[in-house]
Amino acid sequence: MLNLIGLGLGNERDITLNALEAIKDSDIVYLESYTSKLNCSLENMEALYGKKIIIADRTLVESKAEETILKDAKKKKVSFLVIGDIFGATTHADIVLRAKKEKIDIRFFHNASIMNAIGITGLELYKFGKTTSMPFFDKDWRPSTAYDVIAQNLKSGLHTLVLLDIKIAEPSKSDLLKGMTRPQEPRFMTVNECIRQLLDLELEKKLDVISDKTELVGCARIGSDDFIIRYGTAKRLLEVDFGKELHCVIIPGKLHFIEEEFLETYK
Ligand SMILES: C[S@@+](CC[C@H](N)C(=O)[O-])C[C@H]1O[C@@H](n2cnc3c(N)ncnc32)[C@H](O)[C@@H]1O
Repeated sequence: MLNLIGLGLGNERDITLNALEAIKDSDIVYLESYTSKLNCSLENMEALYGKKIIIADRTLVESKAEETILKDAKKKKVSFLVIGDIFGATTHADIVLRAKKEKIDIRFFHNASIMNAIGITGLELYKFGKTTSMPFFDKDWRPSTAYDVIAQNLKSGLHTLVLLDIKIAEPSKSDLLKGMTRPQEPRFMTVNECIRQLLDLELEKKLDVISDKTELVGCARIGSDDFIIRYGTAKRLLEVDFGKELHCVIIPGKLHFIEEEFLETYK
């Protein structure tokens, strides 16, 4: 049995009662650790769920699931925990398909996702276009996909949700030689970094997608008590400290007057 469990967005207590029961009844519990982050510690989760939690990194989920999660689920009750909703990140459809091929029984436990929690901004969920991701640029790699998707959505008057990069660096060769085998501290992109990269892309591509004066929405820690939402020009938002992770950015499309009135409350 494989329980695929969405944990929601805030802390360990956002789990549903059905999912909590399923975890308590499980033999093995994995937590997918690389596409998102909860506002709580692993210890808090283990204490509430009453189970030891195995951290599943990208390699374990995407390349070694057959030897770990799926192998266990053939004989035992396994829970695979995902922050947000199970289907809020592209990677988890793959584990469902592989479990189906192995004829493993699957139970789904849905929860809030960043994909719907952004309704708190007042922007209508039905009027969002394609969601995109902004990766950290480096000196040789500056992909413009996010900028291109925003341009496309704006043409149709649609809003764009930009998800921000989480960089989980594996130890380098020299780190390994020093005996370090654990991944280094992850790096989370901020609203400010995303806006700066979009302004850089505007200088290169010049499609009039964004300027200092474009009104944007910056969000941080949605679903937690200390969430922040700010609506303002790119220039103003660059001055805002959104605090700790996780952050995302929304580029509004054509606004209905109710959406406009709602957004004004975050000015
Ligand atoms: C790949 S998505 C994972 C989505 C997750 N499975 C879900 O259903 O919400 C992760 C990105 O979404 C955004 N995100 C997720 N949770 C967030 C939150 N609570 N507040 C703001 N942004 C969030 C961040 O940009 C983060 O890097």
